[in-house]
Formats: sequence, C-alpha cells, structure tokens
Amino acid sequence: MAESVPRPLPTTGALSGALEAMAFFRDPAFAKSRFERHGNVFETSLLGQPMVFIQGGQAIGDLLSQPDAIEGWWPQSVQQLLGSHSLANRNGASHRARRRVVAQLFSASALQRYSPGIINMVEDLADELQAAKSPLPLAERMRRFAFSVIASTVLGLEGDDRDELFFDFEIWTRALFSIPIALPGSPFAKALKARKRLLEKLRQVLSQPVNGKGGLDLLAGGLDEAGIPLTDEDLVEQLLLLLFAGYETTASALSCLMRELLLNPPVETWLREEIEGLCWPPAPELATIAYDPNNAPKLDAIVSEVMRLTPPVGGFFRRTKRPLVIDGVAVPENRVVQVALAASNRHGTGDLETFRPQRHLEDGCSVTLMPFGDGERVCLGKSLAELEIRLMVVGLFRKLRLGVIPDQDFTLQQLPSPTPRDGLLVKVQD
Ligand code: HEM
Repeated sequence: MAESVPRPLPTTGALSGALEAMAFFRDPAFAKSRFERHGNVFETSLLGQPMVFIQGGQAIGDLLSQPDAIEGWWPQSVQQLLGSHSLANRNGASHRARRRVVAQLFSASALQRYSPGIINMVEDLADELQAAKSPLPLAERMRRFAFSVIASTVLGLEGDDRDELFFDFEIWTRALFSIPIALPGSPFAKALKARKRLLEKLRQVLSQPVNGKGGLDLLAGGLDEAGIPLTDEDLVEQLLLLLFAGYETTASALSCLMRELLLNPPVETWLREEIEGLCWPPAPELATIAYDPNNAPKLDAIVSEVMRLTPPVGGFFRRTKRPLVIDGVAVPENRVVQVALAASNRHGTGDLETFRPQRHLEDGCSVTLMPFGDGERVCLGKSLAELEIRLMVVGLFRKLRLGVIPDQDFTLQQLPSPTPRDGLLVKVQD
C-alpha cells in the first residue's frame, strides 16, 4: 500500500508576529483556538520567531520518538541566563553526561535523605497556619516551601545565604522571557548581574558544603562526555538550572492543588476519607513511599487532574534537525516546535473541561498526560516534586481544616506558571 503523502504545514499567515505575541501572552486560549482552526499541527510567528505548535498524543509521540531528528531549544533570553554549560542548552552526549551527574541528586537514597527536612517544613507551616491571627496567602507559602526544598534540602543553604539567593533569583527570573538586550537598567541587564552573584554564591556552597547539609556531596566525581571531571563553572550552572526548573513549577502545582481542594468540598471529603487512614508523619524509612499511588490512589488521581487542567509547564520546545512528519503534517528542518501540553490535556471528547479526579481511577481512562515531559529530556526532579506534593497535602490535611476567605479573586494568573491571583487567602477552621 502506498504511504499517504504528508499534508503541507498550515500557517496562521503571521509575519512579524507582533499581534500573535500579544495574543500569546494575554489569551489563555491562544493555542486552543488556533488548533481548532488549523488542526493539531500549525505554524505561526511570535515576535519574528517562526514557531510550530503541536498537540495530541499522536503528534507529540511522532516528535519525541525521533530523538536523532530533534534537539533542545530555548528562547535567547533563557539560553543566556542559564549559560552555555547548562544541560538545558546542551544536546547529545554532552547533555546525557550532565544529566547522569545531576540525576544523582534525585536517586531513591537522596530522596530518603531529604525527607526529614521536607517533613519538618510541612510541620512548621502547619504550626504557622494554626497560630495565625489573620488570613495567610497559601500560594506565597507554597512558593517559599518549594524554594526552601531546593535551596536548603538539596543545596544545603540556610539563613542569610538562602535569603540572598532568593532575592537574586527573583531578579533573574523576571527577565527570563524578556528581550535579551542588556541596556543599562533594563530587566535583562539586572538579571545578568544577578546571575553573576547567584553563580558566585553557588560556587561557595559547592566548595564548602555547610556541615554536610544538602545533597551536593552526591555530585562528587561527576564526569563529562569525555570522562573528564566537570569543572565548578559547569556544575554551578547545573545548580542554577535546578532552581529555574524546580521552584516555580512545584509551587504552581501545590497552589493549584490546594485551590482545587478548598474550592471543591466534595473532592476534599473524598480525599479526606483516604488521608484519615494514613499515618502522619510517616515512618522515616517509609517516607518516600508512604503516600505513593499504591498507598494513596485518590491523592495520586487528584495530583494527575491538577496537572491535567493546570499544568505547571504549559509547553516546551524542540528544534527539528531534519524534515519530519508530525501527525501526517510535513514539518521542515530547522523549525522551532512548541509542544502545547496545556491545550493537549483538554483535547478530545467527553468532560475534559471539568475537574474530576475520579476519571484517573476508572477502567479505560484514555487521558495520557506528560506533565513532566517525556523522552531524553524528561524532568529530572519528577520524584522530588511528587514527594514534596504528597508530603505537603497529607501533612496539612491530617493536621488542619482550612477554609478560604470568600472575597478574593480565585482565577489563575497563567504566566510563568498558573497561580491564584489573590494568593489563596486561607484561615484554619475550628
Ligand atoms: C510539578 C513540578 C514539575 C513539573 C511539572 C516539571 C516539568 C518539567 C518538564 C515538562 C520538563 C521537560 C522540558 C523539556 O522537555 O524541554 C522538565 C525538565 C526538567 N526538570 Fe522539571 N518539573 C517539575 C519539578 C522539577 C524539580 C523539583 C526539579 C529539580 C529540583 C526539576 C528539574 C528539571 C530539570 C533539571 C529538567 C531538564 C531536563 C533536561 O533538559 O534534560 N523539575 N520538567
């Protein structure tokens, strides 16, 4: 049988991409409306950068199953702020070697080591909420928690060191998706200066780990693709990547999950039936598995449903190194492709716009999710993120009953990752 001829790549016709870029940043349904018009694969332009958007299991599978035909890609601003050593900016053997080194920070034994510190942070937050006289913004507390897990538990920083890192990191983050021209006083120029200070601080932690705290000793002996030890300059850029990749994402997942539970009492009750049967705090040797999908299937279903409707990473990029056929459409070489996870997760038939975690426990549930990506660049911090989320939900819900303050905006700000606009003000209920 003759193979069918690939269809030509549909395009929105945008040339300069100025209006498309404005729509992209303002309209949460940007990709959805264009997929409806052009199909699962289309091209547009965002501020002069041609970009192919793809959605759906077939299209994403076609792209990621051909690793030799694609490479990682980030906008110029992100590339420069992460640095040339960062594994996010590397491909092939050089990428794989750095992944192997960094992965040591997220092994099962490393997670075991981090668990007591994470449990303490959950306990501290529960105490703070319990003692609070006025409502507290839970989303901000989730950000602080997610940052502390990386800065204190993984990197071993405490006190002033951690605060300084946080301050510079926020300056650095603000320019990530900005125009990468370092005019004096511009966000990008400030971010480049903050980057220098961040790397200096990370270099200090690497050379003098604080009393064996954190996991940095696990990186000792890391080798590059030629078998040569990684320089400190190289390693600190990998550590900076961990802050970039692991902070905003986990904070968003936690805030959106809390928001869904607190705004959906029947779902909260459904989850509480399971949580009441779990022990808190978990036995130290069981902390990494006590609330896994086998022991807490409802919690797992809720996490999946939050990741489906409000994925912390709404899309990621690749560049084609040769022509490819994606879901029957011909995509030329040297094209930037955006894998539109947020749109993909709602694409299909049925009640996909509704928050209904039970779907993930039903036989024949056909939703395929990849909130942590897939293939050669699948998230390195997936197990840590899942552990943080499970410990936080079980800990807080075992210890407290939270209620939301009614007069606040519960809608989500979408960029850089979804988060409740008014910070999700909560109060402990008697
Ligand atoms: C809910 C939380 C998180 C989500 C949804 C998430 C999602 C993702 C996604 C979708 C990718 C793939 C990007 C691509 O293919 O280009 C990725 C990559 C990555 N993530 Fe995560 N992530 C989370 C938490 C974390 C944490 C806690 C860390 C580490 C502290 C981390 C470290 C990384 C790194 C280093 C990469 C780059 C992998 C590579 O390029 O080879 N992530 N993450």
